Amino acid sequence: MADASASVRANSPAGAAAVPNDLASFWLPFTPNRAFKRNPRLIARARDMHYYAPDGRAVLDGTSGLWCTNAGHNRDPIVAAIARQAEQLDYAPTFQFAHPGAFALASRIAALAPADLDRVFFCNSGSEAVDTALKIALAYHNVRGEGTRTRLIGRERGYHGVGFGGISVGGIVNNRKAFGTLLAGVDHLPATYSREHQAFTRGEPEWGAHLADDLERIVALHDASTIAAVIVEPMAGSTGVLPPPKGYLERLRSICDRHGILLIFDEVITGFGRLGYAFAAERYGVTPDLLTFAKGVTSGSVPMGGVIARRRVYDAFMRGPERMIELFHGYTYSAHPLACAAGLAALDLYREERLFERARALEPLFADAAMTLRELPGVLDIRTVGLTAGIDLAPSPGAAGARGYDAMDRAFRDEDLMIRVTGDTLALCPPLIASEAQIGDMFDKVARVIRAVT
Ligand SMILES: Cc1ncc(COP(=O)(O)O)c(C=O)c1O
Repeated sequence: MADASASVRANSPAGAAAVPNDLASFWLPFTPNRAFKRNPRLIARARDMHYYAPDGRAVLDGTSGLWCTNAGHNRDPIVAAIARQAEQLDYAPTFQFAHPGAFALASRIAALAPADLDRVFFCNSGSEAVDTALKIALAYHNVRGEGTRTRLIGRERGYHGVGFGGISVGGIVNNRKAFGTLLAGVDHLPATYSREHQAFTRGEPEWGAHLADDLERIVALHDASTIAAVIVEPMAGSTGVLPPPKGYLERLRSICDRHGILLIFDEVITGFGRLGYAFAAERYGVTPDLLTFAKGVTSGSVPMGGVIARRRVYDAFMRGPERMIELFHGYTYSAHPLACAAGLAALDLYREERLFERARALEPLFADAAMTLRELPGVLDIRTVGLTAGIDLAPSPGAAGARGYDAMDRAFRDEDLMIRVTGDTLALCPPLIASEAQIGDMFDKVARVIRAVT
């Protein structure tokens, strides 16, 4: 029995949920485990815009969980769809067999995606989606007789999940440095953020489109015939909300076209309304060859991810004998029936409640609310785009990340607010159902937190 148990045992007021009585066994991801287990932040249930702690305390969800519950929590239609599906069909393989929900959801996603992005491969997370996209890119060139195209290009400060492919093309030092040599043949574009040129920008900064030209340097170095794909997040979320400079994505697209390089947008965060459109590709009018998604596809309710491919990418594989497998890739739980049911219900909700349009309409108000924090002590920069804000705090001397951690902890305990931190950067990305009053309330809470930690 762990000694931390007493500190989290609920006194069971009416309606309080059961809490675990031993915290030892669970190894928490991306969390300082010892600090957490000494003083845990526990969530017992959720509804719409709120989490509830085991003692019943309501906590405003400023982060859509982990950027995923875009329709809000425990929405009745999604819960009902999952329950119905569990009764009817718990599981069916999608290797050599399939179930109707997989086709229905793929068609719906294809209809939402721009241009001829209309072939959908399912997996279970953003990390799997990224590795799937990288593998499709490599295999695409291979199947077309351009097997020398094996190099992959990511970007500094990119986050593409935690698979070996994703951390290889990703650009976060701590996610890479302990894990060996990673994939060979990977280069990185420079990050698009410069505080000097972009501080306190709403939406896409004016400065920085030229940074896409670094791709030409990499092509000149290695030759286009060795390069398979470039992968970027249209808006880098995990490293602090970095919207693309105006014209940057267009420039990447045209350089890729010039050299026969596939362009992959990692839309695991930006997909399903975060930037006011179904996909960032639509907001920016730039069509990638492959687009990854996860998180919002089920509004976070059941794990699911996937890759949307342009028609010609899929068609390149559809050759050879008809009874031969075209792509040797897939997961036991690709297109899991519960995830498909949850996905269909989530897409219905997004449509019925016009949540993508809602995010677009709220964007100016959200940006105004975020920018009210501008004059607070220790605020170095604020960036906003869609229903997303990143706030850089000055690090405490000699203790990078300590102030951010303190802010996250205080927000939860003292302000009943969940925020996300990366180092000393705070991120806000509430569910798209947030009311104007809740957005105002959220930033008032953040203001008090910033005053408390600076
Ligand atoms: C852009 C991007 N790609 C991939 C991932 C990884 O997704 P998952 O944690 O579902 O594996 C994330 C997660 O935040 C992400 O933001």
